[in-house]
Amino acid sequence: MLNFNYYNPTRIRFGKDTIAEIDSLVPSDAKVMILFGGSSARKTGTLDEVKQSLGNRFVVEFDGIEPNPTYETLMKAVAQVREQNIDFLLAVGGGSVIDGTKFVAAAAVFEGEPWDILTSWGANVTQAMPFGSVLTLPATGSEMNNASVVTRKSLQAKLPFRNDLVYPQFSILDPTKTFTLPERQVANGVVDAFVHITEQYLTYPVNAAVQDRFAEGLLQTLIELGPQVLVKPEDYDIRANLMWVATMALNGTIGVGVPHDWATHMIGHELTALYDIDHARTLAIVLPALLQCTKEAKREKLLQYADRVWHINTGTDDERIDAAIAKTKAFFEAMGIPTHLSAYDLDASHVDHVVKQLELHGMVALGEHGNIDPTMSRNILTLAL
Ligand code: NZQ
Ligand code: ZN
Repeated sequence: MLNFNYYNPTRIRFGKDTIAEIDSLVPSDAKVMILFGGSSARKTGTLDEVKQSLGNRFVVEFDGIEPNPTYETLMKAVAQVREQNIDFLLAVGGGSVIDGTKFVAAAAVFEGEPWDILTSWGANVTQAMPFGSVLTLPATGSEMNNASVVTRKSLQAKLPFRNDLVYPQFSILDPTKTFTLPERQVANGVVDAFVHITEQYLTYPVNAAVQDRFAEGLLQTLIELGPQVLVKPEDYDIRANLMWVATMALNGTIGVGVPHDWATHMIGHELTALYDIDHARTLAIVLPALLQCTKEAKREKLLQYADRVWHINTGTDDERIDAAIAKTKAFFEAMGIPTHLSAYDLDASHVDHVVKQLELHGMVALGEHGNIDPTMSRNILTLAL
């Protein structure tokens, strides 16, 4: 196992009717900004419930954070935070709203040009405002991690940053708040969480038995419950388990002490920035092709994945690996998510554009061995056509 330094300060309040607990989690004299997305928080009544739990505190609302939150919108929130001397942020939404809130938390107290937070991958963040979240879409793990992804529309750049100062102080996870999700977002969440796990698991073995078994258990839970949630959307237990899986997939637990390969995400971010494809949908396109193209380097873990996750025990090593990749694709497709660029009318000319953007953003040495260069990215995207 590799050395690691594990820190996660986020308090989780999980279960039905937990929004009321916000009252005990936010300082009573806080000046609060509630940040949310387009319309769902208002329509579903979650916003009202949150406001009620804040009682008589000074509260302002900031709405309109888009899926794949933009720097342009978030900077308006930053200006409002500064003008109104807001001292606590509360995100109500999915990964986009929570990521956006993390950026606002860092940018509002940042000395200098806030875009540098992204170009430095978060390294230059030295302070951040306190904030909490109410999660309404299980997918990204943002509710319990220190990462955020922000898009600058004018540059067609979607970049991540991480910093320990942007862990939420608390996150409320009430599975009943996910009943209103459209099926497309439910499926996206399952696939996003699945890929987060594979990116911390499908690399090379380092004898991290606990992380491996945790990862395999989480993957199997998604494989079991993903299709079930589509036919039983009102089932509380399925929702609750999916919510916790998505959080566990990217809160550090399975990622400590093991190599990571975030190439699928970095390539996927370019597809979203250029063609506005939902985040999880980009991952379903890239991951199977990436596993094919990197199967020599990932051979041992792919065989372990075939055996322990998919129970594939017959055939040659290559046949078992190919079968595991085929099962992965079939799982994404069964969730209603296509696994090819052609499903979005993209062809070889678009592949060129994506590769250029990867180069522009310095994404030229991706993967656990740093050997996914632009040529390899091109091969992956071409295989995904
Ligand atoms: O905008 P509203 O009207 O609120 O609608 C949202 C949005 O359109 C809707 N929604 C959310 N909760 C709902 C609901 N609709 C009905 N009922 C509810 N309870 O769902 C739509 C999508 O929301 P969004 O927050 O964009 O989805 P998701 O949670 O998948 O977040 C995606 C973003 O997270 C980033 C992605 O890159 C993307 O920008 N990621 C963040 C990560 C992190 N911080 O660690 C890791 C991930 O890999 C990911 O990259
Ligand atoms: Zn993701």
